Amino acid sequence: MTRSNNDWWKKAVFYQIYPRSYYDTMGNGIGDLQGIIEKLDYLNDGTSNSLMVDAIWLCPFYVSPDLDFGYDIADYCKIDSCYGSLEDFDRLLAEAHKRKIKVILDLVLNHTSDQHKWFIESRSSRDNPKRDWYIWRDGRGSRNRPPNNWKNNFFGSAWAWDEKTGQYYLHSFLKEQPDLNWFNPEVRKAIFKAVRFWLDRGIDGFRLDVAHCYCQDELYRDNPSVFHRLKRVQQGRFWDRPFVVNVFQMLELPELQDKIYSRHHPETHNVLREFRKVLDEYPAKTSVGEVNSEDPAIVAAYYGNDNDELHMNFYFALAQCRWKAGAFRRTVERWEKSLPKTAWPAYTFSNHDIMRAITRYGRKGEADKRARLLAMMLLTLRGTPFIYYGEEIGMKEAKLKREEIKDPVGLKWFPFYQGRDGCRTPMQWNSEKNAGFTQVKPWLPIGPELDQRNVASQDQDPASLLNFYRQMVNLRRSNPALQVGSYASVVEGVPADCYFFQRELDSKRFLVALNISRKKRQFNLNLLPGEPRLLLSTIAERQAGAVKEELLLDPLEGAVLQY
Ligand code: GLC
Repeated sequence: MTRSNNDWWKKAVFYQIYPRSYYDTMGNGIGDLQGIIEKLDYLNDGTSNSLMVDAIWLCPFYVSPDLDFGYDIADYCKIDSCYGSLEDFDRLLAEAHKRKIKVILDLVLNHTSDQHKWFIESRSSRDNPKRDWYIWRDGRGSRNRPPNNWKNNFFGSAWAWDEKTGQYYLHSFLKEQPDLNWFNPEVRKAIFKAVRFWLDRGIDGFRLDVAHCYCQDELYRDNPSVFHRLKRVQQGRFWDRPFVVNVFQMLELPELQDKIYSRHHPETHNVLREFRKVLDEYPAKTSVGEVNSEDPAIVAAYYGNDNDELHMNFYFALAQCRWKAGAFRRTVERWEKSLPKTAWPAYTFSNHDIMRAITRYGRKGEADKRARLLAMMLLTLRGTPFIYYGEEIGMKEAKLKREEIKDPVGLKWFPFYQGRDGCRTPMQWNSEKNAGFTQVKPWLPIGPELDQRNVASQDQDPASLLNFYRQMVNLRRSNPALQVGSYASVVEGVPADCYFFQRELDSKRFLVALNISRKKRQFNLNLLPGEPRLLLSTIAERQAGAVKEELLLDPLEGAVLQY
C-alpha cells in the first residue's frame, strides 16, 4: 500500500452519525444499523447527487444501559440489540466499503458502565482479581470523606461509595461510569484486545472519547481551586469567545477546580502510544481524539512525538469563536502555529455534545446565511472536516420540555441548561410525521422548522443548504489544493470583518473569501496574481466565472476563487 493511501484521512470528509437518531427500521423509535445501511446512498452513491462523504464516525452502539446514551459501555464487543446485531454491523461495513465510505468507531476507554462484567467482578470483593482494574480508594478521616476533592465532569464528586466493600471508586463522569485503571497492564491488554476485535472486522479507525482523561495522579492529590490561576487560563483574546464561554472556562464551572491532577496526565500519552502501535499493525487506519483544553499546546501534545500518538485531534476552540472574522482567523492561526510540523488538523462546528452551530450562531434571519459561511469555512480549511448529521440540512437545536429530557446532564441542570438532547434529535428525512425517521414515537422529539429543514424538500431545491454542501464537498474533492494544500491567512487589503485565506498546492491557488459582516464588502483583485475565477459562492444565484478588478461580496456571503 502506498503512503498516500495510508493518508486517506487527510483528504477525507467525515460525517458523524449518532446511530440512535439516524433512521429507525426496527420500529422502536430508535435509529439502528440497518437504518444507516439504508441511508448510505444518501451519504455517498458515487455521484454528486449525494453528499460524497469519504468516511463516517459512528457514535457508540455497543451494549449499554444507556445512562449516558452509549457512552457507558457494558460490552465493548457486542452491539446493543436496540441497534441490531454483529451481522448487521458486518453488513453495514461491507455496504459502506462498497461505496468507498470508511467507517470509524467511537472508543470510550476512560470508563465502562457499572454493568460491565469487569466492574461487577471488581466490586464483588476487595480481593477479586479485577479489583485493581478500576480505581478504588479508602475514605478520608474519621468521617470517611471521599479520598480527595476531585469533581466529575457532569456534577458532584468524582468518587462513589461502595457499601459492600467499604471503599470509594473513581468516576470522571456519572457514578454509573467507573473509571478504568490504565496503570494496570491487564486493563491495557483487555482493551487492546477489544480494539483488535474491531480492527480485525475491517473498520478504518476510531474516535477516542475524552482521550485526555485516562490516567490520574498516582498520589491522588487534591485539585487546586480555580482561583489560584485565573490569570493563566486565557489563550488568545478574551473577546474572541463569548463571555459565557470565557467565564465557564476560567472558573471551570460548575466544578470551580483546576483539574491538574485528574486530566492530561503524562502516562495517558504512553497509553496512546501503545494504542497507536496496535493501530499501526493494520494498514491505513486513523484516529481522532476528543481532547479538551483551552491551551492549544496541550491539545497538540496528543499528536505525540513525531506523530506517534493520535493521527488527528479536534480543535474545539474554532467552534467556540464568537461570530467575528478576527476570532476565526486568529484561532486557526493559533492552531496552525501550535501544531507539530507533521501533524494534521481536524475541525468541526457541531457534535453530539454542543449546541448545533446554526442555532449558536443563529441571529434572527441570518442563521441560514451563517450556516453556509460555516460550511464553506469547514470544507476549505486545511484539516479534515467533520460534518455532524443534519448539519447539511440546517437542522436546528430543539428546545425541550422538562419531561422530554433524557440526557442526565440536562436532567440535573434544567432549566439553566437543557443538556445535550437538543442536538441529538432525529434526522429529518422528510416533512411527514416524525420526519420520516420512524413510524412510532421517536425517542426524542423532532427539531424545529421541519417543513424546510428536511432532506426530501432540500434535495429538490438546487439552492438548498443540502445542495450547497454537496457542491462544497465536490469542490474540495476535485481540488487537491483544498484538501492537502498549504494554508495562509490573507490580510492585506481585506476588510477587518472579513476572513480570507489561501490554499495552495503545486502552484494551484485558491482564495476563500468569507464576509462575516452584515455589510457589503469588496476586495481589490489586483492584489492577487493571475486571473481570478469564481468557483462557488454561498449565494446560489451567483454565476461562476472570471471576476475582474473587484470582488464584491454581499452581506454574509462567502466565495471560493481560483487564481
Ligand atoms: C465524551 C462524549 C460525551 C460523553 C462523555 C462521557 O465527552 O462525547 O457524549 O457523555 O464523553 O463518556
